[in-house]
Amino acid sequence: MSKEYEYIVVTERDGLGFIELNRPKVLNAINRPMVSELVHAFEAFDRNDSVKVIVLSGKGRAFAAGADIDEMAEDGAIDLELLNQFTEWDRLAWIKKPIIGAVQGFALGGGFELALCCDLLFASEDASFGFPEVNLGVMPGAGGTQRLTKLIGKSRAMEWLLSGDMFTATQALEWGVINRSIPKELLIEETERFARKLATKPPLSLRLIKESVHKAVDSSIYEGMQYERKNFYLLFASEDQKEGMNAFVEKRKPDFKGK
Ligand code: CAA
Repeated sequence: MSKEYEYIVVTERDGLGFIELNRPKVLNAINRPMVSELVHAFEAFDRNDSVKVIVLSGKGRAFAAGADIDEMAEDGAIDLELLNQFTEWDRLAWIKKPIIGAVQGFALGGGFELALCCDLLFASEDASFGFPEVNLGVMPGAGGTQRLTKLIGKSRAMEWLLSGDMFTATQALEWGVINRSIPKELLIEETERFARKLATKPPLSLRLIKESVHKAVDSSIYEGMQYERKNFYLLFASEDQKEGMNAFVEKRKPDFKGK
């Protein structure tokens, strides 16, 4: 499957879909074709019934050190407006299955923005996160100012975004940006272990829980509660709800089908 891609490697095993950024020589700098490939791979996994959870990581010593600066250095504002490239990034937010990011080394600029598109982030202890765009005379353009602020609040986001400084995994953990800080050599193993655990859960529940949590970020509590309730009711139309509850009553392990 990965043959059709130039900038990423895509594999599938045991109910998990793996996407690895694959430009290690330039610390996985994200160029435009890589974004198109990412969107294609994520959407393909989203439609693939045998994949329950998607894991995103980077090859080499970085997750991703940002958007490809060489590619955009000579761009003009009108070029960018006409190119409208960030609508492709927007599609990442519509992926229905859980995405776990495994971050080692640098997650900077667009690389950090890509990490923030994940639902859960596991990072190696040596990971560093930052928005260095300010040092280039620009600013984040793929959601950094919005997603980070919603995640950690205005004061902390301001510090991160205005300074352009890199922050450690310990800081990111303390501020609630990542879920786990893990010794480097165990990062992939631990991430996979957690992904495998999620893959045993009923897929429709995972899907609607993810959707409902996302709704909470952007809506009033009332609107969010209504949304949650509808999704809760919807799950009672699934075979997995009957299976899950019957298995509990019959004191056996459930066998979920994703239906
Ligand atoms: N774009 C293009 N190439 C990049 C890159 C990027 N974002 N980040 C690293 N590279 C390349 C370097 O140019 C270098 O290539 P060469 O070997 O051909 O010279 C290679 O990757 C290795 O990098 P370094 O030699 O610089 O490695 P280092 O360990 O000394 O430093 C680093 C690592 C601190 C991450 C440094 O590479 C760096 O500062 N990179 C740029 C980070 C950055 O500014 N990111 C934001 C980009 S803008 C953006 O992302 C906009 C947006 O919101 C969409």
